[in-house]
Amino acid sequence: MSAQAPPDELVYNPYAFAVHDDPYAVYARLRGEAPAYWNPDLRFWALSRFGDVLEAFRDFGTFSSTGGVALESRRDRSRERPAFEQLIEMDPPDHTVFRQLLSRVFTVRRMSEMEDEVRRIVSGYVDAVVELGEADLVADITSPFPMDVISAVLGISEADRPFLRRVSDEILVREDGSMQMPQEALDAMFEMVGYFQDDLGRRRTNGDGGLISDLMALKVNGRALTEAELLGFCVLLVIAGHETTTKLVSNAVEVLSRHPDQRDELVADPTLTPGAVEEVLRFHPSTQYMHRTLTCDHEMHGEKMSEGDSVLLLIGAANHDVREFGSTAEEFDIHRRPERHLAFGYGAHFCLGAALARLEGRVALEEIHRRLPDYEVDHDAKVRFHSSNVTGWASLPIRFTPGNATPGNAA
Ligand code: HEM
Repeated sequence: MSAQAPPDELVYNPYAFAVHDDPYAVYARLRGEAPAYWNPDLRFWALSRFGDVLEAFRDFGTFSSTGGVALESRRDRSRERPAFEQLIEMDPPDHTVFRQLLSRVFTVRRMSEMEDEVRRIVSGYVDAVVELGEADLVADITSPFPMDVISAVLGISEADRPFLRRVSDEILVREDGSMQMPQEALDAMFEMVGYFQDDLGRRRTNGDGGLISDLMALKVNGRALTEAELLGFCVLLVIAGHETTTKLVSNAVEVLSRHPDQRDELVADPTLTPGAVEEVLRFHPSTQYMHRTLTCDHEMHGEKMSEGDSVLLLIGAANHDVREFGSTAEEFDIHRRPERHLAFGYGAHFCLGAALARLEGRVALEEIHRRLPDYEVDHDAKVRFHSSNVTGWASLPIRFTPGNATPGNAA
């Protein structure tokens, strides 16, 4: 961002902490004044209108994922090979092959069968705080439980989960205004890759269960997956499975604490919870943007974009567009029932974990509203999690009446 920018100049910097505090004001200006916005300092385009973002997600021939899906890790794939192959950074037809492969073991059925296990895990964390009358929602509930769930799916031992939570958080942390990945984030990525290299080695000798072992047994084009491909799946599933879901539930509680009438409706009628999860995903999506690289020159809204340019698809901005959601687009309403939103992307890369994320979000909110129904957030003490495209809380202190609801596992 230019230090001399006049006060009214439209500047969007996804790394600025002030933008993290309220991205929706600048998104509204982008949609209105510069629907194809160019940031000359960080050298990216940003699309903010719902129709444009959806179309760019759909058109992988023009908006490629192979140059990386985060702005700070963009690269020229024709010259730089990544350390490991990530499904999320492939285009069809390669992407189709690997996505089908993962879909064979990461099935909607397998995820929906996890409801009892998810409820048991969440209840355990709620049990630990319910008599205390206060908790840090993130440290005590919303950070540990999604890592337990994805670890149960992948076959990762309980002892290793705190380590994976720490490195997964550290990989995403960014400094104010800076596109540079901090050394701490690079070190954490190195640690996570090293962990999975050892884990794959252990599995080759003692064949632990879970989805990672299932993937090791699969064949792609008649051959086993390479170590780079397996590492790509492990890192993607752990980070995607943990971070976005943690943020979804803490964002939900934070937003609902500012809309106590709607929170009270959810307490009184838990069948409203799936709609509330959907509205949190629309209103304040955990993933605020995805990065794409242009495969050819392209013109939008009178702007000439060039082959190789970076384009940010602003999910958070698209999800507040009056063109799609009408005049109340900027309001939070658990009764909205939108036909669609872009929190999980769209098209070829549509989130493979969407069913699991929705299940986890619903069960966690049901349990929190059943056991801690009168929670209040200490808004002065909450601490934001600063990443470039994932939004949420590093700490969210809450207070509630101790032991307010009857313990038990029935929702
Ligand atoms: C609230 C929770 C979640 C949100 C907001 C979210 C968001 C997204 C988005 C926006 C994409 C599209 C990326 C792109 O187009 O480049 C994506 C892809 C993906 N997500 Fe999620 N996600 C969530 C939870 C999960 C969970 C729980 C998992 C399971 C481990 C998961 C696994 C994946 C995978 C594997 C992909 C890549 C799919 C592909 O490239 O074909 N996500 N997610």
